[in-house]
Amino acid sequence: MPRLAARTGRAKPSAIMVIADKARQLKAEGKDVVNFSIGVPNFLPGDHVYQAVRDWMPHDSGGYGTNRGAPALLDAIVAHFRESGLDGYTRANVTVGIGAKQVLYNLCEALLDEGDGIAFATPYWTSYVDIAEILGAKIDLLPCPPEQNYKLTPAQLDRALARRPRVFLFNNPSNPTGMVYTRDEIAALAEVLAKHPDTWIITDDIYNRLVFDGIGYHNFVQFRPELRERTFIMDSLSKTYGMPGWRVGFVAGPEAGVKALVTLNSNHITCLPEITEAAALAALTGPQDIPQAKGVEFSKRRDEVVNALLKIPGVKCPRPQGAFYAFPDISVAFGKSHNGKPIENDIDFCKALLEDKFVATVPGSAFGEPRSLRISYTCPPDQLQKGLARIQSFFAELSDERVERVRAAGA
Ligand SMILES: Cc1ncc(COP(=O)(O)O)c(C=O)c1O
Repeated sequence: MPRLAARTGRAKPSAIMVIADKARQLKAEGKDVVNFSIGVPNFLPGDHVYQAVRDWMPHDSGGYGTNRGAPALLDAIVAHFRESGLDGYTRANVTVGIGAKQVLYNLCEALLDEGDGIAFATPYWTSYVDIAEILGAKIDLLPCPPEQNYKLTPAQLDRALARRPRVFLFNNPSNPTGMVYTRDEIAALAEVLAKHPDTWIITDDIYNRLVFDGIGYHNFVQFRPELRERTFIMDSLSKTYGMPGWRVGFVAGPEAGVKALVTLNSNHITCLPEITEAAALAALTGPQDIPQAKGVEFSKRRDEVVNALLKIPGVKCPRPQGAFYAFPDISVAFGKSHNGKPIENDIDFCKALLEDKFVATVPGSAFGEPRSLRISYTCPPDQLQKGLARIQSFFAELSDERVERVRAAGA
């Protein structure tokens, strides 16, 4: 058999999906599984989105659309960026993709040659590593542990940019940590970015409408407008509008760079389906009450999750202020055991929690932080309460037995 291209060996199946599959299997066996593992918003878009689809159907051409995106949709995207505080973009600055993931893939393909550097903070969204590895880029991980609230500091960024990566990739609000950078923090990072003109900037801002506590959403280009000529801002309908399966992502950036993305679209996907574009247009231009209400609802759930976690002795959880994730440091459990199962690391922990308590979470090592795990808290409130209570009882049942056995063996 002829061999597969080397890049296929560099692409790993998502660790998140592995847990989700195991959770699905346990559910199929009749187990009462609480699923905190997948990052889905768990709500549907408003009926106006479905109505727009029904209205579109009699007019559907069945043909190819444009590589950049339908003009009406591009206008809606420009308006959406404007409402997010990002003024001055035109149709020439924006384009679409099959979800933000494909936009990011296109961006990395457009900006990175093999061996070029890409720098981003840890914890990171898993696809950052996978996409960079498929493309043969050199990854520079910038560790942001819980002790620094999982946030990148200006000094850290300055040091990283001095190594002259081709791309700096930034995620705010963050998956997996739910952290949101304040106005001042973004302004300070923008100052550093302005000093390093040789690096492209990608900001993955797809959770920007899910920000709590009045902290607001900010982007570097608002503080240093000259960064616009090398900054690409990604957004998506997936999380904000409850439309992950509709696969609509978009990006604003400098004209020439966006043109390159349109060329990649013409070769990768040709276009979004017209029917999807009709739904996207309705979501962006229709009533915004559902996304707004979800922001409020998620902030209440965040309180519930953080309060429950902080009651557990030794668990630390920097307070998330956006998205719908919490990322507690559970390393206090390492070296203990549960039901005789040794817990040496985050993977043992998540496996035992799923097998013994039927709660699915994602080990932090999937995101580059092995002391933590990710809880996605969009499930119905009764499930959330049940899952949190089970996590608390899991901790209460941990035993030092394993540590004692190891100590005894060493003695
Ligand atoms: C940080 C981040 N960026 C991008 C994406 C991709 O989103 P989309 O569904 O638009 O492809 C996700 C999805 O989980 C994400 O969490």
